Amino acid sequence: ISRSFSSSAVRSVVIKNVMIIGGGQMGAGIAQVAASTGHSVTLVDMSEDILKKSVKGIEGSLKRVVKKKFADKPEAGEEFVQKILQNVSISTDPAAAVPTSDLVLEAIVENLKVKQDLFSRLDKLAPAHSIFASNTSSLPITDIASSTSRQDRFGGLHFFNPVPMMKLVEVIATSATSQETFDSLLNFSKALGKTPVSCKDTPGFIVNRLLVPYMIEALRLHERGHGSKEDIDIAMKLGAGYPMGPFELSDYVGLDTMKFIIDGWSEKDPDNPLFTPSELLNKLVAEGKLGKKTGEGFYKYK
Ligand code: NAI
Repeated sequence: ISRSFSSSAVRSVVIKNVMIIGGGQMGAGIAQVAASTGHSVTLVDMSEDILKKSVKGIEGSLKRVVKKKFADKPEAGEEFVQKILQNVSISTDPAAAVPTSDLVLEAIVENLKVKQDLFSRLDKLAPAHSIFASNTSSLPITDIASSTSRQDRFGGLHFFNPVPMMKLVEVIATSATSQETFDSLLNFSKALGKTPVSCKDTPGFIVNRLLVPYMIEALRLHERGHGSKEDIDIAMKLGAGYPMGPFELSDYVGLDTMKFIIDGWSEKDPDNPLFTPSELLNKLVAEGKLGKKTGEGFYKYK
C-alpha cells in the first residue's frame, strides 16, 4: 500500500478511528483535539448524562476557540463547530464500538484493577491491529498491559491538562511495546498537532517525575518557615519564568492528586528524600481543602 520502503512507515497503523473511554477532564479534552484534527471519535463513559455533559463541555470549548478565530464570521464559526462535533459519537458500551477502533485510549478513574478489567474485556473483542493505550499519570503501563494478550500493541499516551492548550504528549513504550506500535502512537500524537516526547515506563514519566518533587519541596521550604506561599510563588514566576508558582500549580492540579502520587512513590521507595510526604499537604487533604475544585487549597477561590 505504501510506496515508502522504511519498514516502520509500512507497518505502523494509521490511526483514524479512536475510542476514548472516560469523558472526564482528560478524556473530553483528548476527544476534542482528536475530532478537531479529523479523527472519528467514539467517546465512552458510564452514563448518557455524563456523556452529554462531556459533549456540552467540548462544544463550549470549541465555541471559545471560534469566537476568536471567526470573530467577524459567526456563521462560519458555527459551521466549524458543528463539523467537528459530527466527528464525535457517544456510547456507554465500549464493547459495541471496539470492533472498528484503530486505537482504544483510556482516561478513566486512576485504579489499576478497573483499568485492567476494562482492557482485558476489550482485548477479546478488538481487531488484531488495534492499539491500546492508557493516559494514566501514576500507574505502570506494564501492569495495565499485563491484563491483555497484546502487550506489543500497548503503550502510554500521557496528555496534559487542559488538553486543547497543552502541546506535550509523553509517549511511553514498555519493554514489550513494538516499534510499530510506538511509531503509530508517535504519529498519532503529531496528527493531533501535539509535540510527542518518548519516555520509558518509569514512575512519573518525565514531567511529573521532575515537577512533583519540586512542588513538594516548595511546601517543605514553606513548612520550615523559610518563605511565604506568596513569595515562593512570585519567586518562581519572576525568577524561573514559570507561568504559575508551585502553590498555585498545586491548587490547580488538586492536592489529593499530589498526595496520591507522592504517597505511591514513597511507598515504593521510602528512602528517597525527594518522596518524603509533606505534613501540610496531608493536613489540607484531610480537611477537604483540595485546591481550586473545592474552592480552597493553599489559597481561597470564589
Ligand atoms: P475525571 O474524574 O475527570 O474523569 C474520569 C471519567 O471516567 C469520569 O467521567 C468517569 O465517569 C469515567 N469512568 C470511570 N470509570 C469508568 C469505566 N469503568 N468505564 C467508563 N468510564 C469510566 O478524571 P481525569 O482527571 O480526566 O483523569 C482520567 C485519567 O487521566 C486518570 O488515569 C488520570 O491519572 C489521567 N490524567 C489526569 C490528568 C489531570 O491533570 N487530571 C493529567 C494526565 C493524566
